[in-house]
Order: sequence, then structure tokens, then C-alpha cells
Amino acid sequence: MTDLHTHILPGMDDGARSVEISLAMLREEAAQGVDAVTLTPHYYRDRESSGSFLSRRAQAVETLESAIAALPESEQAALPVRVLAAEVAWVPNLVDCSNLRALCYQGTDAFLLELPMQPWYDGLFSQLYDLINVTGLTPIIAHIDRYWSSQKPQRLSELYALGLPMQLSAEALLRFPTRGRALKALQSGQVQYLMSDCHSMNSRKPNLAPALAVVGKRLGDAAMRRCAAQTDEMLREYAL
Ligand SMILES: [Fe+2]
Repeated sequence: MTDLHTHILPGMDDGARSVEISLAMLREEAAQGVDAVTLTPHYYRDRESSGSFLSRRAQAVETLESAIAALPESEQAALPVRVLAAEVAWVPNLVDCSNLRALCYQGTDAFLLELPMQPWYDGLFSQLYDLINVTGLTPIIAHIDRYWSSQKPQRLSELYALGLPMQLSAEALLRFPTRGRALKALQSGQVQYLMSDCHSMNSRKPNLAPALAVVGKRLGDAAMRRCAAQTDEMLREYAL
């Protein structure tokens, strides 16, 4: 099972504040049956150049990998494989970002896209459509469940009509108010990928296993296995 959305890289964003926390998060992922994690620190193009972000990301990876290399071999082997990526925040004219390909899930032509929490404006989807056509890249919409309450149904329908792959937060299955809708979205195939979006070992810790247990209990073991397998499939489906 792959966790497609994590803020495990140390000191990059509002995720792991130290490499010790990064290691604890990786151990927790492994304990929950996750054998690969994608490292998806936030990237805000309106605050930082992509070059600066990529250089900070490379440094954070070096810090993490050095700490892992210092562990006994048996502990290293027990940790999930790490795959580089980013969580790219939507900004107008994102298509002009010259390094968008370097922000993709490593070895694929897909990238994780965070849409605004503010009401989606006229023209956002046409810009998104242009971006797909011009770059040939596939945006994977992060935490669709966050927009269920913040966006108008009409806007959500427009997004679904684009047919883009979608990610669901594990938290949406663990909280009663969103559980029913999250289960329906998974069951119907409207969303494909379950992710943790973990930020720490406290309030937003890795939580794929308890979310999958909800899927198993409510939709059955076959649905749970399919849901877990789809997270691995993503990296293969968009492989270069
Ligand atoms: Fe995130």
C-alpha cells in the first residue's frame, strides 16, 4: 500500500518539524502496512520560485536519508520506500511554472494539485483544462472531501466533469459527518485514491489503516483490498 500524500519531509512546511518526527511518521506508516510513501511538501508558486523549492526539498531529502542511513540495517529495511513529489497549490497561470514536471510524482507525469478553499471562480476550470493540454501532465485533485462543504454543488459538478483522478482524505472516513459521502464516493469510483495527508504524530498522524478498516466494515473486505491496491496502482498508471 502506498500513502500518496504526506508531509513527512522535515522542515519543509507545516508537516514534520524535525527529522525525528519524520522517522516516527515513517515507522507509524510501516506499522499500518504502508510500504511506500510519496513525499508531498506544499509548494506555493506565489511565495517561492520552483527552483528555490526544489533546492529546499533536495536538502530535506538529504537530511532524512542521512538519518535513515544511520539506523541499523534491519530498521532501514522496515521503513516504507520514499518517492519524491509535491503538493502544488493552485495559482492563476500555473501553466507558466517552468518546473511543473519536476514537481510530479517521481517517474510519472502526474502531480498532486491543491485547489483553493475560497470559492472557485469563473475561468479556473478553463485554465486547468489549458494546463492539462499544454503540459500533457495529469493533476490529481488532493483531498476532494475538503471542498464538499466549501464549494457550491455546481462547481463540484464542473470539476467532476473534467474526469480528473481524485484523492480522498482518510480523515473523511473517520469523521461521522463525512463518512457516508466518503464511502459513496469510493464505492461509485468518483474518487480513486485514499491518502493520509499526515502532518505530524499528533493531530494529523498517519491514519490509512483505521480508514481502511472503516471501508472493510462498511463495504466489505474486497472493497478494502481494492482501495488499498489502488494507491499502488496510481504510480504505475501514470508511469512515464
Ligand atoms: Fe497536504
